[in-house]
Amino acid sequence: MTTTIDIEPLSEALGMAVRGIDLRETLDDRTQDEIRALFSKHCVLCFPDQKISAEDQRRFAAMFGRVDGAYRSKSSGDLKKSATRGVMLVSNIRKDGKPIGSLPDGEMQFHSDGAHRAYPYRATTLYGIKIPSTGGNTMFANLQAAYDALSSEMKERIETLQTQTVYDYAAQDRSTIGSDPTLPRAQHPLVKTHQVTGRKSLYLSRLMTETIPEMGHEESEALLAELFDHAEKPEFVYSHKWTPGDLVIWDNRSTNHARTDFPDEEQRLLRRYTVSDPDAPLGN
Ligand code: OGA
Ligand code: MN
Repeated sequence: MTTTIDIEPLSEALGMAVRGIDLRETLDDRTQDEIRALFSKHCVLCFPDQKISAEDQRRFAAMFGRVDGAYRSKSSGDLKKSATRGVMLVSNIRKDGKPIGSLPDGEMQFHSDGAHRAYPYRATTLYGIKIPSTGGNTMFANLQAAYDALSSEMKERIETLQTQTVYDYAAQDRSTIGSDPTLPRAQHPLVKTHQVTGRKSLYLSRLMTETIPEMGHEESEALLAELFDHAEKPEFVYSHKWTPGDLVIWDNRSTNHARTDFPDEEQRLLRRYTVSDPDAPLGN
């Protein structure tokens, strides 16, 4: 039996809502191919009204590459053992005074997951469980559209540049990034070509791109500031207002994402699995 899926754009910038699929079930090959094609083309997919377990989410994530797991240090112990490998909670909830989640609370600036690694996460899946009444949206920026919209002079200027990226666990914004020389860092081309679609995109973000090492500090900051502002223009951005039961997957190769602030006194809880290239070294 094959499934008929129903799709609807999430915004003009990027994204598709995909309905008519129950992700508790194993999907037939044709449907899986169709979903992978939609993902590469539209960069963000949202599957609303899903009632999935961690294992269902892990199986879904595995359609897109190698699910990250064995080497993740902060896994939750609360879920069933087989499914916990690689699961991560994104939450402001504290249990016995300790955060149950692994990312900072509140607002987060634009970034791309795993940009501090030599082999960044290909994709991230996030499943909405508890959502505050207001705020806590995840914003997605289309870095392919942002690249396409650059002037030809700018495209030429940045074509061969490399960036240095950093992951500062505690940073929610750029003002403090990079203060610690021992933080995980990597180098990446500023312009990347997508493995599947061959489209070019900017690969940089306000929260994680530290410098353009071949430039002096001032020149690097000025160029980065111009490109950050460009990549965050409203025409490239979709702001996702979560509903519990949304399963969202985004492509870290072609998008950045950010989080809007939300009230501290309200609970927010999402479940996350990331996916890597199957040939990426483990725990890079
Ligand atoms: C993430 C992330 C944003 C959010 O899980 O990598 O950035 O809205 N989440 O919680
Ligand atoms: Mn993130």
